[in-house]
Amino acid sequence: MSSVASAPGKLNLLFRVGETRPDGYHEVFSVYQAVSIREHVQVERSARSGLVVGGSIFRAQLDMVPRDGSNLVFRAAESLARAFPEPGRDSNQLKFEIEKSIPLLGGMAGGSADAAAALIAVAELWGIQPTPAQLLQLGATLGSDVPFALLGGTALGTGRGEVLSQLPSQTFDWVLVFAAEGLSTPEVFRALDAERRDWKPEQLASRTSQREIELETIKACLSAGDASSLAKLLENDLQPIACQLLPHLSETLKAGLGLGALHAQVSGSGPTVFLLAESASHAESLRAEMCKLGYLAVTATGNAPGARLG
Ligand code: C5P
Repeated sequence: MSSVASAPGKLNLLFRVGETRPDGYHEVFSVYQAVSIREHVQVERSARSGLVVGGSIFRAQLDMVPRDGSNLVFRAAESLARAFPEPGRDSNQLKFEIEKSIPLLGGMAGGSADAAAALIAVAELWGIQPTPAQLLQLGATLGSDVPFALLGGTALGTGRGEVLSQLPSQTFDWVLVFAAEGLSTPEVFRALDAERRDWKPEQLASRTSQREIELETIKACLSAGDASSLAKLLENDLQPIACQLLPHLSETLKAGLGLGALHAQVSGSGPTVFLLAESASHAESLRAEMCKLGYLAVTATGNAPGARLG
């Protein structure tokens, strides 16, 4: 018997980064949206642990996925075994298969989606029924973006990104432009800190506090499905850093805007760039035009469901 679950990739529609906390993480104020590009994780019992990785992402990226116990799917199983101990619940006796569609080190939380899908699949295999709150709590121990991969939809994330409140949203049409190389999230955050070394504490704090008016305006656009007004409100504090580290990202953003995207932005720590389209047909024509320019681009819809079986 095997269990299969899937979980979505995310875009940070708004990503404000504030102070560094004593635990080394940064305070964030993030509007996440889950998209229709999903990771699939299958798991079955096995005498020895194993992990097979396949999928549609760049071959070189597939080769870089850790195959050992450090992979988040094993760590997800370990955390379930610890929280719900019973004989036979052993992460070393599981064989996983991950089907990857989300780029590695791409700013779309693909590894977190793997962890979220693994939590759901292993819980089913072991006959555990964690409450949604227990799952979110376990997810937060695995990574800042795992709770959102579990929840899906659209949400405000605060704290280090794991404190979530769901935001009602219509469906939005996106084009995702993938880069062959990845960016290390810790490296991007470190470069941001270096850039801001002369900032006063209150300047840092203002990135993530007193954002109620901004949030209300974004919420109105999300629930009305108003893509052109939403386009004017989106911003990512990490984007200038990602563009410094990979200067060709500025060209990608320019190309998307030049072709008529309502908005172009780096997701999270990058390097995936997302373009906001007016409609599904607009997204398809933007995708085709980006591909003609030599980019690897796919369409996706937003407000996708969180991790679930199947
Ligand atoms: O939580 P996660 O393991 O996904 O985070 C990866 C890295 O990203 C952290 O080790 C940290 O360097 C950085 N990070 C951060 N502040 C956040 C989230 C992530 O500095 N809110």
